Amino acid sequence: MIPLNPILSHIDNIPSTAGKFKPEKSSVCYIHHRLRFHISHPKLTLWPIIFLSFILFFFFLSPTSTTAPRRGLRTTTTTSHGGSSRWETRLKSSAKPRSCTGHTVLVTGAVGFIGAHASVALKRRGDGVVGLDNFNRYYDVNLKHSRKSKLLDRAGVFVVEGDINDDVLLRRIFDLVQFTHVLHLAAQAGVRYAMINPNSYIKSNIDGFVNLLEAVKSITEPPAMVWASSSSVYGLNSKVPFSEKDRTDQPASLYAATKKAGEEIAHAYNHIYGLSITGLRFFTVYGPWGRPDMAYFFFTKDILNRKEISIFEGDNHGTIARDFTYIDDVVKGCLSAIDTANKSSGNGGKKKGEFRIINLGNTSPVSVHKLVRILEKLLKMKAKKKVVLMPRNGDVALTHANISLARIELGYEPRMDLEMGLKKFVKWYLDYYDVKKKSSW
Ligand SMILES: NC(=O)c1ccc[n+]([C@@H]2O[C@H](COP(=O)([O-])OP(=O)(O)OC[C@H]3O[C@@H](n4cnc5c(N)ncnc54)[C@H](O)[C@@H]3O)[C@@H](O)[C@H]2O)c1
Repeated sequence: MIPLNPILSHIDNIPSTAGKFKPEKSSVCYIHHRLRFHISHPKLTLWPIIFLSFILFFFFLSPTSTTAPRRGLRTTTTTSHGGSSRWETRLKSSAKPRSCTGHTVLVTGAVGFIGAHASVALKRRGDGVVGLDNFNRYYDVNLKHSRKSKLLDRAGVFVVEGDINDDVLLRRIFDLVQFTHVLHLAAQAGVRYAMINPNSYIKSNIDGFVNLLEAVKSITEPPAMVWASSSSVYGLNSKVPFSEKDRTDQPASLYAATKKAGEEIAHAYNHIYGLSITGLRFFTVYGPWGRPDMAYFFFTKDILNRKEISIFEGDNHGTIARDFTYIDDVVKGCLSAIDTANKSSGNGGKKKGEFRIINLGNTSPVSVHKLVRILEKLLKMKAKKKVVLMPRNGDVALTHANISLARIELGYEPRMDLEMGLKKFVKWYLDYYDVKKKSSW
């Protein structure tokens, strides 16, 4: 059985690695010139030479004299990425589509829940795929490694271990491969963790996103971008179902605020640099290989361990409900967003790349009480329930997607109902954690 590590044991994972030294030509020439001058005056030579030798010694040792960021060398040319032609060969080969009509996609957050499924689906249908992920410890990193070995490696998707904040690494990847699309899913997810580690949201969802957009906009033929926004941007909006035209200026969590900021930032990059950008607002995605910080996942774990679970309710016993959306439906939406995206026109292009924001939900919210009833049935175990008033921790009472735009733009039609989807999740969970089914009915 693979144990679940504590979920909230995140370590910020911004790489800080050693740098490459490149002396500036002009200073070397200048020193060389000075040296020659002193050698021609023997009496004055000894002390200046010693002095200059010291300067040269420290000059060549100094890490700050390089033009490349210090962290660049290790991330790109030693240990984790090999720095070898083998690393480059594997990356390029993974990026190659099966046919000349296939796409070449960089998937960030590739060992994450949605990233792993999307990468495999792209690869299976013949697209070239390269994954990028920093394998952070927000939740059990063993699960990320298992997604890599059991899903991505088997499908032939090469994953680069690195951070979207590493501009040297991004430049290197984009130099090696001409991507047609970037599916950007890397982010600090989860609404409640923002109260514990707010900066992780800024680093990945704002800084990292801008860093990626900067890298993309610098490419001569920039790829189109499809990226994960979130239903959380609807925040305290009470008008349902949530439509893309509704207000999104009342976030209930820092997570939501960073996703909303991401949408505005993306718009600016579309406007100025002609990048084609589609933001997908995902609604509570669930399924096999899911995220341990989500209720359906930790309820399953706690029910099996006979631990009490807290079921939130709103003011005046108001129901808390989510528009649970099965992973396969979301993946289909992502692939369709890639297929229907216009090309980026690039800086100075006559035609501006498009900017789209689209809901990807199931459009049939289910109460948390019903979620627990389904899990009890599937696990054949009674949950120990405690009903508590929902704390003000970033959660909202209800999510419900209007998916009319997704239908028009993407031909999107969610197929899986919660009972069937949870059946698949529970089957995976029992198998993955090697749980022997017990009945306490
Ligand atoms: N799962 C959902 O219900 C849901 C709902 C709305 C939005 N989203 C968004 O969808 C995307 C994918 O979500 P998920 O559920 O697969 O989450 P996830 O946490 O499983 O996947 C995100 C992956 O990104 C990686 N990552 C984080 N910061 C990074 C960085 N700076 N550089 C490189 N890699 C980094 C993590 O290691 C992780 O593997 C996220 O952007 C999330 O905010 C998810």
